[in-house]
Amino acid sequence: IKNKGKLVVGLSADYAPYEFHIINDEGKDEIVGFDIDIAKEIAKDMGVELEIQDMDFDSLVAGVPSGKIDLVISGMTPTPERKEAVDFSDIYYVAEQGLVVRAADKDKYKTFADLKGQKVGAQMGAIQEGVAKDNIPEADIQLLSNVNDLVLSLKSGKIEALVVELPVAEMIVKNNPELVVGEEKVKDTEGGSAVAVQKDQQALLDSINSTIKRIQDENLLDQFIIDANDLATKQVVEE
Ligand code: ARG
Repeated sequence: IKNKGKLVVGLSADYAPYEFHIINDEGKDEIVGFDIDIAKEIAKDMGVELEIQDMDFDSLVAGVPSGKIDLVISGMTPTPERKEAVDFSDIYYVAEQGLVVRAADKDKYKTFADLKGQKVGAQMGAIQEGVAKDNIPEADIQLLSNVNDLVLSLKSGKIEALVVELPVAEMIVKNNPELVVGEEKVKDTEGGSAVAVQKDQQALLDSINSTIKRIQDENLLDQFIIDANDLATKQVVEE
């Protein structure tokens, strides 16, 4: 990475406030979010440039051992299955899991049990498939690779609910007044978001963990999240 002079970070930019597309003040498409701010700090501490690769969430983990990307910073939960392919940094952020439903169904779908046997959306390759399976009896889980497409499916009635990290659910309903956050929430049992790196790259992992520690010590994450929430009003949905 030092020789290349750049750090290539893979992510799926469909997940405001973590990472998402906006039209910036120059009228250009730009990927922003608190994960991007973290990536910038990691690159800065390594003294290299940052390059972002926007990919399907589903293909991120495989992109690390193949060398297509150096890291994944994409609100990724360090699960045991993923740990077979990649190593993870320390956790930098923890969130609950939330439900998004249509505002008109607010009272109909209050709890996971109310969604028994219904069509529920989750991102392909994401832990939310398991969250839905574990919590919603007989759920008919519909997987799509892009969260924005899941939001469209929910709005058009193809699915009855969507499972995403709670901060994302809150952002979705802010930008879509016909949707609301369901009342039921689940604690993230697998422990939050971490950076994925190639296996057995201890020096790289140490460098990332020291940046994460610095971000915590300097209390930078709160400001990154505030900035991401502000920028989300400029959010655009990429096709
Ligand atoms: N935390 C979940 C997981 O690791 C979902 C992350 C989705 N991230 C994204 N940028 N779409 O499976």
